[in-house]
Amino acid sequence: MKLKTLKQLKNLTGKRVMVRVDFNVQIKKGKVVDDSRLHASVETINYLQKQKAKILLVTHIGRPEGFEKELSVKPVAKRLGDILKKDVGLIEISKKILKNLEEIEGNYFDEVVNYINTMKNGQVVLLENIRFFAGERNNSDAFSKGLASLCDVFVLDGFAVAHRASPSVVGVANNVKSCAGLLLEREVVGLTKVLAKPKAPFVTILGGAKMETKVPVMKKLLPVSDYMLVSGGIYNTYLKAMGYGVGDSIVDSNFETEAFNYGKKKKVILPLDVVVGSPDGKSYRLVNIEKKSHEICKKGEAIYDMGPATIGLFAKYIKHAKTLVWNGALGYFEQKPYHMGTFAMARLVASRSKGTAYGVIGGGETVQTMELVGMTQYVDLVSTGGGAMLEFLSGKELPGVVAVSQ
Ligand code: 3PG
Repeated sequence: MKLKTLKQLKNLTGKRVMVRVDFNVQIKKGKVVDDSRLHASVETINYLQKQKAKILLVTHIGRPEGFEKELSVKPVAKRLGDILKKDVGLIEISKKILKNLEEIEGNYFDEVVNYINTMKNGQVVLLENIRFFAGERNNSDAFSKGLASLCDVFVLDGFAVAHRASPSVVGVANNVKSCAGLLLEREVVGLTKVLAKPKAPFVTILGGAKMETKVPVMKKLLPVSDYMLVSGGIYNTYLKAMGYGVGDSIVDSNFETEAFNYGKKKKVILPLDVVVGSPDGKSYRLVNIEKKSHEICKKGEAIYDMGPATIGLFAKYIKHAKTLVWNGALGYFEQKPYHMGTFAMARLVASRSKGTAYGVIGGGETVQTMELVGMTQYVDLVSTGGGAMLEFLSGKELPGVVAVSQ
């Protein structure tokens, strides 16, 4: 599969270019909390500005069931304007339409058309949260065609949403000339490199708790990895399956069998020690994991981090890696002192990447940790996708990527 790329398109002057970005960011008190997903699409937006296109940005935020004021993209338009140092317009849903949004959502498109007619070349505008519209949520064909009628070209840039076969990701691409944006291209090329020809030793680091998304990745990456370092919720689930007492630790009981089976594999490297304690981090202690199952946690305690011996063990593997992939927090890093394991992994991965190893990280918490230790710039590929990256690494074809491929 070969992507249709943005730079292959000629003559974009004055053209209406719709860009499906993923600005699904947290908004608190009317402000964007983390703007890294906005920065990630700036290259594509700047490129289109230079080409003198009229740029219509489309995103979702959250999973609304209709109009929800707190999920409006208004703060995103403001923040993006600051980043681009340029006004970013916002096509709000007028009060008239809002009353009957479900029945007459098509009328919003008339408002978009009216707005486009006033746009200058190079101007940027953001449409309202696309999931406010039932057509997007219900995968309506008419909605896909409606979106397509608003533009001459469609660009999919939001890698993080490429695993959703919705009208604004796939439907529109099937109804108008379409291609991949620069961000999508970078991510697909970078992740393909990992799947196709990873340099050995290939070390994968997996944390997090959602086993449902991790099991397919383990299945796909274990045969190509030389080692898989596993901690966090996946490890807790393994311990539980092995009969250890894990107290209030996060476990995914539906996947105990899988955790048990993977935990037994030779390539899977598990912690030697863990930090257990109270959720507020005020009392904590170190526990060595003995071969024989035992009570790790006392009443009211949970496993919140890996211990120093484990950090040392994992470091030994990371230090020799030529390819590194990391997804998922390895502990409750939001609460001190349980941040130590995850922060140590972030520093180790970053210091090996862009040079000795090809380093890829992805997933909300993983990227957030890398930001917190201030080393994001040292990583080769920081994927904006959480679920999308995992699906891609599991070997699944992402519907969005297929839609903008030849
Ligand atoms: C994400 O943040 O992973 C993407 O924006 C997809 O969001 P969704 O899981 O609500 O479709």
